[in-house]
Amino acid sequence: MLPRDSVEYVQKEHLEILRIADRLAEALGLAGKPDFRSRQDGLAEVRALQQGLVGISQHCNAENGLLESDFHRYLDAKNYDQLQMQHRNIARLIAGLLRELPYTTADSVAGLCGDGAELLEQIREHVALEEDMLWRVEARREELLVQ
Ligand SMILES: [Fe+2]
Ligand SMILES: [Fe+2]
Repeated sequence: MLPRDSVEYVQKEHLEILRIADRLAEALGLAGKPDFRSRQDGLAEVRALQQGLVGISQHCNAENGLLESDFHRYLDAKNYDQLQMQHRNIARLIAGLLRELPYTTADSVAGLCGDGAELLEQIREHVALEEDMLWRVEARREELLVQ
């Protein structure tokens, strides 16, 4: 059974993930500016977020483990598969971005901005969907407890 404290833990991690996503959005906005200095600052900000991005990737991998062990009892196959696919996709996009980062300069940052924007979209969409799933899991769990 998925314990209540693990649901709360996941929600707390989501807040942290969304905070990192907001910082990444800001950094990419700066990196996409026409002037060199802003692009340089934006790129430095993206570099400063590397650990945070690794953390998001780890969260996704950990959740795939959680999905395998507990979540699948409460989610139907379609939702379950969709979450797993999104986790793999986000981890892949982060790995790609981290690979690109050492070779990116303020003059060649446009590609990174495009990839970063795709990653941001996926992260935000995923967290919203997963939060919705968590509520469904909670409701189903309580239903089963009442019976
Ligand atoms: Fe999550
Ligand atoms: Fe997730």
